[in-house]
Amino acid sequence: MSDRYCVFGHPISHSLSPRIHAAFAEQTGEEMTYEAIEAPLEDFAGAWRDFAAAGGRGANVTVPFKEDAYRLSDVLSPRARLAGAVNTLVLDRNGEIFGDTTDGIGLVRDLQAQAAPLEKARILVLGAGGAVRGILEPLLATQPATLMIANRTPEKAHRLAKAFAGLGETTSGGFDEIVGTFDLVINGTSASLGGECPPLPEDVFADDALAYDMMYANEPTAFLRWSAEHDARTADGLGMLIEQAAESFFLWRDVRPETAALRKQLRPS
Ligand code: ATR
Repeated sequence: MSDRYCVFGHPISHSLSPRIHAAFAEQTGEEMTYEAIEAPLEDFAGAWRDFAAAGGRGANVTVPFKEDAYRLSDVLSPRARLAGAVNTLVLDRNGEIFGDTTDGIGLVRDLQAQAAPLEKARILVLGAGGAVRGILEPLLATQPATLMIANRTPEKAHRLAKAFAGLGETTSGGFDEIVGTFDLVINGTSASLGGECPPLPEDVFADDALAYDMMYANEPTAFLRWSAEHDARTADGLGMLIEQAAESFFLWRDVRPETAALRKQLRPS
């Protein structure tokens, strides 16, 4: 029987992950299956136990279970510990559950693939929830000149900036405290879900700036539409989704799939 993997979420029916991992398995010749499982909101641990008992070797974990997966893990990677969340579970040969997160590195790989300004750049990150917590360490590792965290509730931005202060030059505040221009603006708020754009200063973008929405949807989000109207280059989270999947695949199979072809194939024309 081939090894089984899955993605747990709620809801999960629209997930692209099964398509992405099927493409990786075909490309690398790995014998495996990958399915989408809707876990019950109140029993993520039970869903994982059932899956493992039925031959599951590992899983991706998405909204709203990343903190549950963190608590379920017997061993955590340093980056998962910093992120406070797990998006990849690996069942090792002794039956121990290893929890890691590939979201942050997935974002940085995608930004690098798009030649985004990183080293010595001025970066503005919007939001201070779980999604943003998961990207700060790999972003700061690219050595930007400054990284500002701006959030609707400024106290949450201050807390995050403090938690990551040792890793690089960070500032924080409310949206009305954003001053100056930025080379890269990353939307990590969930405002896009409600069709909203965080309130940003009209002159927030430096020349050739990139506006990046971590969310992926078929239509450009309100943030990306606003950014395009203000002359920024734009990118959504599809590349991040593909790159985090490639990292998870590597953790499970010790083979790194190639992502360029899939990036083109999944982009609706
Ligand atoms: P996630 O795991 O997706 O990060 P979260 O931890 O609930 O979810 O965080 C959601 C983030 O989106 C927060 O930064 C939230 O701002 P607050 O901390 O002030 O709640 C932000 N957010 C949600 N809706 C928003 C909106 N309409 N405009 C601006 N920011 C919004």
